Amino acid sequence: MNDTIYLAPMHGVTDYYFRNVYATYFTGIDLAISPFIDLLPGQSVKKSQIRGLLQENNERMPVIPQIMGNVADDFIFLATYLHDLGYDHINWNLGCPYRMVVKRKRGAGLLPHPELIEAFLEKVIPAIPAKLSIKLRLGLNSADEIEHVIPVLNRYPLTDVTIHPRIATQLYDGDVDMDAFERSAAQLNAPIVYNGDIVAVEGFQALRQRFPDINRWMIGRGVIRNPFLPALLKGVTIAADRQFEIFVEYHQALFETVTQVMAGPGHLLNKMKEYWSAFSESFENGRKVFKLIKKVNSVPAFQRATDEIFQKYRWLTGTDNTPS
Ligand SMILES: Cc1cc2nc3c(=O)[nH]c(=O)nc-3n(C[C@H](O)[C@H](O)[C@H](O)COP(=O)(O)O)c2cc1C
Repeated sequence: MNDTIYLAPMHGVTDYYFRNVYATYFTGIDLAISPFIDLLPGQSVKKSQIRGLLQENNERMPVIPQIMGNVADDFIFLATYLHDLGYDHINWNLGCPYRMVVKRKRGAGLLPHPELIEAFLEKVIPAIPAKLSIKLRLGLNSADEIEHVIPVLNRYPLTDVTIHPRIATQLYDGDVDMDAFERSAAQLNAPIVYNGDIVAVEGFQALRQRFPDINRWMIGRGVIRNPFLPALLKGVTIAADRQFEIFVEYHQALFETVTQVMAGPGHLLNKMKEYWSAFSESFENGRKVFKLIKKVNSVPAFQRATDEIFQKYRWLTGTDNTPS
């Protein structure tokens, strides 16, 4: 079976410049969902929201724009705007777990309200010039919520439904609920995308064995941490030494790109620290590695720290960095 691997949307992490640098060095990702764009009131669009979706910024990796919001008319406006930019597929975010979001019945905040989801889809589906897919969790407060959402989703022609089998109150921690995932996947009519905690080849193979009918997989943190992972999952073998060399080149390119995109060294360092919170886990003594990066407060200190890491700490390959 041919697997399709999606790069998960990660706000502030998988932005267009990251996707472009990533796609220069690595294979295995088939397409990305963009980090969400917020619906603004009054059917307006900010240039800064759209920059990451301009075609000229997305020539290296196919991308599906993701929208977060609950006002059907505003969604129709934005989906039409994105269609005019060249997108014929939009993803709707029903999974964002943050308090400020869910309190306003956006993201995962809609999951306890299947009637609102239905009213939204009833209006949006016939009105947008694009296909729609959905990314969701099992629920806001309980994994039972999805049971009431599924019959609603089954009434509409969705391209696929990505399930991250956690509830919103877990954020991104704690166990994924694979039994609830299995039940939901069996009930949904649309093709399913599995998303959650794919970080190494072994775990992925176990998932494929358990779910032989699923061939769409979405990976977020696992790709940031080990950028070779999608290629490894597709059976490409890359020697550890070669992986390390490519990682060092990629890191340099990412650093240069982030330097251009960020306004000033403070923002640059914060962004690189965010990436290193994941990269460090692909090195032996990951905690120590991240400590070295976390304490830097200037660009030269950052460069010294990365030189030290590259000289002293061993790169772990995608098969031996199973999470502890
Ligand atoms: C920093 C961060 C930002 C995220 N931003 C988004 C987002 O914009 N839209 C979305 O649907 N999910 C978002 N997610 C959730 C991820 O897409 C994904 O569902 C989650 O990380 C679980 O997958 P993973 O275990 O492969 O990382 C975000 C997650 C993180 C950690």
